[in-house]
Amino acid sequence: MPSFDTLPSADGLWTGLTRLDGQPCAIAVQDGRIAWTGAPDAVPTECADLPGHAGQGALVTPGLVDCHTHLVYGGQRANEFAMRLAGASYEEVAKAGGGIVSSVRATRAASEDELFASASARLRSLLAEGVCAIEIKSGYGLALAHERKQLRVARRLAAAHGVTVRTTFLGAHALPPEFEGRSQDYTDLVCREMLPALHAEGLVDAVDVFCERIAFSLAETEQVFQAAQALSIPVKLHAEQLSDMGGAALAARYGALSCDHIEHLSPEGVAAMAAAGTVAVLLPGAYYTLRDTQLPPIAALRAAGVPMAVSTDHNPGTSPALSLLLMANMACTLFRLTVPEAIAGITVHAAHALGLQDSHGAIAAGRPANFVLWDLQDAAELAYWFGQRPVRAVVRQGRIAEGAV
Ligand code: NIG
Ligand code: FE
Repeated sequence: MPSFDTLPSADGLWTGLTRLDGQPCAIAVQDGRIAWTGAPDAVPTECADLPGHAGQGALVTPGLVDCHTHLVYGGQRANEFAMRLAGASYEEVAKAGGGIVSSVRATRAASEDELFASASARLRSLLAEGVCAIEIKSGYGLALAHERKQLRVARRLAAAHGVTVRTTFLGAHALPPEFEGRSQDYTDLVCREMLPALHAEGLVDAVDVFCERIAFSLAETEQVFQAAQALSIPVKLHAEQLSDMGGAALAARYGALSCDHIEHLSPEGVAAMAAAGTVAVLLPGAYYTLRDTQLPPIAALRAAGVPMAVSTDHNPGTSPALSLLLMANMACTLFRLTVPEAIAGITVHAAHALGLQDSHGAIAAGRPANFVLWDLQDAAELAYWFGQRPVRAVVRQGRIAEGAV
């Protein structure tokens, strides 16, 4: 893999581009940032003499943002896929010692370098499809040293691949086996030792909890949120995936960046998220893998004006997905999002779900140069095709990271 620093600079004037609304456009990049964007006949004189990059009619979008992933883990769980096909539910698999805890065993057994290598290979698939910013959660370590290992790998991935990474501490993902029957003790450890230590090491951009019958209660979730709030760390939540726990309303009270999954979200939860400006993160890959039948309340979210993001939820158990475009397709087909909603879901709203709304998710002057050229004519094709990669070129952090122009 060539080092990111040796990739060609994207500085120059990009012409022959077509925006999602069908209008022609040009983008000037200087020192790795977007200096100007607008109509091709309105290029400012100071940008007109920059070296040219010919877009040849390519559709251009902002760099994609994958706002919910569990990308760093050891092993894989294809055996559970087979168990579920034979009729076992996600909860039954978890209770039988599989599920998250089986990835915890494999993650604890792996070295930092092994985790880096396996996560790098997965990350490369996402990047090749235009991802320019990604969230990576811990949550398969469930002990300080192993959660640290996961988060350190996430930071290394950012540096090695030249991609924006937001780390999320998900120590409250599952009860580790050594705390069997002592959920409160483990929650105390997460709040009093793990979070403060990892925060002090600069490894935590946000805090998440799996609030569910098979994971952490509402009261435990609130305790973790209080610990995060005391350290001024933003929160987000795995909320109402398998049942309505009232997690979304709680998260909204803590000003959560996002509530994710939300298949069982209540009308009160929708209202609370709307009032708090919390983003709804839709995860059709997990819905599909678990053969869920409870649809997230899309119409209510839309009516309440809650921004909807779409993400891979990449993880070895419920969503072994490495294509954000496929998730956009599934958000349309399974959840009935419109194509513009799905595209906003993997760009502007996903950036918002990570607190990156000022730097990612839109093509605008002053931002780091992150944009994707597609071999497509019509914006709807982004969500229409699946199983292919219509990328012509990716400009990531001011460099031509994929393709050649
Ligand atoms: O987002 N819901 C909890 N966490 C993951 C699943 C993790 C796993 O099964 O390993 C999710 O679906
Ligand atoms: Fe998840």
